[in-house]
Amino acid sequence: MSSPTQPGRHILAAPAWPYANGPRHIGHVSGFGLPCDMFSRYQRMAGNKVLMVSGTDEHGTPIQVQADAEGVTARELADRYNRVIAEDLAGLNMSYDLFTRTTTRNHYAITQEIFLGLFRNGYIFPRTTLGAISPSTGRTLPDRYIEGTCPICGYDSARGDQCDNCGNQLDPVDLISPRSRINGETPQFVEEEHFFFDLPAFADVLGGWLQSKSGQWRPNVLKFSLNLLNDLKPRSYTRDLDWGVPVPLDGWRDRPDKRIYVWFDAVVGYLSASIEWAQRSGDPDAWRAWWQSPDAESYYFMGKDNIVFHSEIWPAMLLGYNGQGDKGGTPGALGALNLPTEIVSSEYLTMEGKKFSSSRNVVIYVRDFLERYDVDALRYYVAVAGPENQDTDFTWSEFVRRNNDELVATWGNLVNRSVSFAARNIGSIPAAGELTAADAELLARSRQAFATVGANLARSRFKLATGDAMRTVAEANKYISEQAPWKLRESDPARMRTILHVALQVVDDAKTLLTPFLPGSSQRVFEMLGGSGDWSGTPEIREVDEEGGPSYPVITGRYEGAARWESRPIQPGTPLEMPAPLFTKLAPSVADEEVARLRESGH
Ligand code: MF3
Ligand code: ZN
Repeated sequence: MSSPTQPGRHILAAPAWPYANGPRHIGHVSGFGLPCDMFSRYQRMAGNKVLMVSGTDEHGTPIQVQADAEGVTARELADRYNRVIAEDLAGLNMSYDLFTRTTTRNHYAITQEIFLGLFRNGYIFPRTTLGAISPSTGRTLPDRYIEGTCPICGYDSARGDQCDNCGNQLDPVDLISPRSRINGETPQFVEEEHFFFDLPAFADVLGGWLQSKSGQWRPNVLKFSLNLLNDLKPRSYTRDLDWGVPVPLDGWRDRPDKRIYVWFDAVVGYLSASIEWAQRSGDPDAWRAWWQSPDAESYYFMGKDNIVFHSEIWPAMLLGYNGQGDKGGTPGALGALNLPTEIVSSEYLTMEGKKFSSSRNVVIYVRDFLERYDVDALRYYVAVAGPENQDTDFTWSEFVRRNNDELVATWGNLVNRSVSFAARNIGSIPAAGELTAADAELLARSRQAFATVGANLARSRFKLATGDAMRTVAEANKYISEQAPWKLRESDPARMRTILHVALQVVDDAKTLLTPFLPGSSQRVFEMLGGSGDWSGTPEIREVDEEGGPSYPVITGRYEGAARWESRPIQPGTPLEMPAPLFTKLAPSVADEEVARLRESGH
């Protein structure tokens, strides 16, 4: 493996695929979304080749249940929310190379290829199992219509395929006191054939792989993942459902009532989206550099209820496709595929002390948030106060405080006081004269921050990284107050110019250090100091199709802007104008109003 500090590495950044069953709320995006974007923007600036791909997860029970509730078909629901979610995520400035969806032809083909590869290597096998039927009609009762008590955590409304409380995957037959959601009757279980995935065949190799991550992954994630290995059972990977990817085997392909399990197709999305990206970029094999080169790295970002699928199921699928489980085998037609480098999982964000819940209206939708507040204020909050290592409460008062004290009064203030003073008194970036010890010290501090902030970003330690970057900003504010250039206008204009030069150099450095967190406001600072064009790039929504198929929106963009992870000397003589404020100060009443709004809409 190449050294983790060497530039030019291929890095796959893989944020989890949101279900297309509703708009995203800030609890969702603080787990899978924003951390991944911060990481990706940093890695690009550090000179690495980042591929960030994801999309909406559109199959399975979660979609079908919501479609039934809204009285539309699963496809109509998926179409609607795919678009809504793409807009939410583009609004958050998420720099996807491709954000697509799981209902593309390409995704179906790749999912079926992985299924077949596992089948051919013997890791997917048919087994007779107990399936549910409705005693009153005699018809198959799809998984989504069965609920009961979770055998693992005791939650009383677990669904037939998954418990929304503890995140474990279930089979309907596992449920305690199962009941039909249609009429409450107890389902009858009869023998039917399903395909099972042989997870136990990967116990040893998964164990060795996870052990090798010790000291690299977040301790909670590794511990949880290692624990899972104590209870590996074959899992049913086909479902009684008509909405999903068909099983690519004779006798199954055309059955309307059997589909591949949604979690199987969803995790394949990372691969299929990489392949779609390569096709759209005009070099169909370009994805291989991220998936097959032994030096490539991959980082998957998600909330903790998704860990099992990324640290156990997906690696086992990859190993099986490669022919690397207990039963051996050979790689499928795509060739051997890399295992994840790291599973970066966040804990939960709660909301004023309660669990986020769309159904109970304990929720702040991304769209509503962005209508009222600056996207960078949310990104900043998630970076410094998000659920990185423990469950964390979002409170409006803390949001207002961080915005006002840290963004407005610390960083915004530094930019404003230095640029406006220089604009008014000099009109351009001044050159420096001889440096004093205080000047040199501040400049050195600011330069050194690139190493410390960068090292923390590379390891997804966002709190430490923002803390360090903001300390540099605070130092610069202190420096300006101590040097008091406004007192030197008449008495020592040369010294005044040197102080302003030093201050503006640190402003320029700090906007670079803060770019992964605050890409929009860093772009504005870049322009204030004479930059033009793209600093670190902005995602856009584009309408695409698959050779005459229906069109759909994707998020994509060019992110090779001017931004580099380094201190770059500012250019004396660059004209400066009076700056507009970088951030908006929020009235303290905002917190009360938002809490009242939650109460009104909640219960
Ligand atoms: N849709 C799932 C959720 O929201 C996440 C899927 S992530 C993937 O919990 F890996 F499967 F893609
Ligand atoms: Zn449970």
